[in-house]
Amino acid sequence: MTELVQSKFRNGEDVPFETLSNLARFLFGAGQDTTSHLISMAVRILAEDSDLQERLRVEPARIGDFIEEVLRFDPPVKAAYRLAVRDTELAGIPLPAGSVMTACLSAANRDPRRFENPDAFDIDRAGLRDHIAFSRGLHACPGAPLGRMEAGIAIERLLARTKRLELDETRHGPPESRHFRFVPTYTFRSLVDLHIKFEMA
Ligand code: HEM
Repeated sequence: MTELVQSKFRNGEDVPFETLSNLARFLFGAGQDTTSHLISMAVRILAEDSDLQERLRVEPARIGDFIEEVLRFDPPVKAAYRLAVRDTELAGIPLPAGSVMTACLSAANRDPRRFENPDAFDIDRAGLRDHIAFSRGLHACPGAPLGRMEAGIAIERLLARTKRLELDETRHGPPESRHFRFVPTYTFRSLVDLHIKFEMA
């Protein structure tokens, strides 16, 4: 942030305040919310699966694969947006210049043409990293390695410090009728709250 605020254009001119504050705001949203959503979703999935917890406690080297499958299964960013700069066509649908498109990343991540048994959570699946949770192309997420690393470290520490992790059923209901509250937004998959119970290791 410091470097960003002090930066100048190549010709030595100052960057307008509005541009800087927009970039700073974007970085906070893009860099923090997303990763915290990923961590909460990972904890939610783990809290439902004690075998997986045990497996990852014994084999922490597989936590990276676990995070990858969380990114595919329930990604923090549900949609990315694009503007057609010229008349074009996608999957037989004409898109005149100026059209705004929404790419549903979470839907693509469950595409049965791409992933076998897409609704199953499976850290051993083939093509674990073929998901598009970080989007693709020119605007693909530059923070992907950082987000992956932060979430991996958080889960590694959490598993190392706990013996048992489970959902608080008084808040989320019994297994057959779980309920979770999500912030109603088109873009992010953000839990309003997640209540867990744990036993320290
Ligand atoms: C798990 C964590 C994260 C997820 C799931 C995520 C996901 C995404 C997605 C889907 C996009 C949109 C790309 C597009 O429009 O094609 C994006 C863009 C972006 N992300 Fe992330 N992100 C994460 C973490 C981060 C972090 C840690 C940073 C920086 C510290 C970051 C910075 C950015 C920036 C600057 C862009 C805009 C890139 C551009 O428009 O060229 N992200 N991210």
